[in-house]
Amino acid sequence: MWDKVQETVKFLKDKGITKPDYGIILGTGLGNLVDKITIEIKIPYGEIPNFPVSTVQGHSGELIFGTIGTKKVVAMKGRFHFYEGWTMEQTVFPVRVMKFLGVDNLIVSNASGGVNPAFKVGDIMLITDHINFMPEHPLRGKNDERFGPRFVDMHEAYSKKMIAKMEGIAEKLNISVQKGIYLALQGPTFETPAEYKMVKILGADAVGMSTVPEVIVAKHMGMTCFGLSVITDLGVEGIVEAVSHEEVQKAAKGSEKNIGNLVEEFIKTV
Ligand code: HPA
Repeated sequence: MWDKVQETVKFLKDKGITKPDYGIILGTGLGNLVDKITIEIKIPYGEIPNFPVSTVQGHSGELIFGTIGTKKVVAMKGRFHFYEGWTMEQTVFPVRVMKFLGVDNLIVSNASGGVNPAFKVGDIMLITDHINFMPEHPLRGKNDERFGPRFVDMHEAYSKKMIAKMEGIAEKLNISVQKGIYLALQGPTFETPAEYKMVKILGADAVGMSTVPEVIVAKHMGMTCFGLSVITDLGVEGIVEAVSHEEVQKAAKGSEKNIGNLVEEFIKTV
């Protein structure tokens, strides 16, 4: 794993990717955030040694390097989901690579189902914490101390400072945001009404199929993380309706502009 990461990092550094200020993982329907990036380098995943290649429709895979204002960013357009069949190691591989490119701050986005009755479709939720309900753990197995410690502190998986900063920016831009806890399930099925209820009882506000493995590994390596989630459907008791990937993408698309503006301003602001 170590050697593979270093090989990929060397390849990307040789291509000209140098110490980005932020790493960004763009989730379902949020790919448009790339329009905010002044792109310098764009590499399809298929050309990057050791990178998995995404298979889900709407998750085109490219690594993008460029600037937003004066900040350098490296962005993953398309991420790897555990449900696609990748191992946990493959799912989180790009985050390992980001760290050794010099990224200390990670921004992740995703689409999720809201179980908090105060949420509406299209809401943007700042992730305050997560619950790991994935069936495998990305740090299971022998620990490589070069990446980080065996036992990882998770008391502030999502930076309080970054959340406060984003709340300030949302207020300034007059975009309303929610805050809440994200619970990750493997998928690829959406939840049954009983499962949505379970998610709520467990203490979460939204449920999805990504993000948690990446954030765990980022914390393993001492990165500071910020996450936001678009609520693309509701799993609230009494109003659980049919949901499809298309609807999720449509709902995510509706909030894309606001998320783009929020993250752009977030990165530009010191
Ligand atoms: N459940 C899981 N993942 C999701 C959902 C959901 O309701 N919506 C978007 N991604």
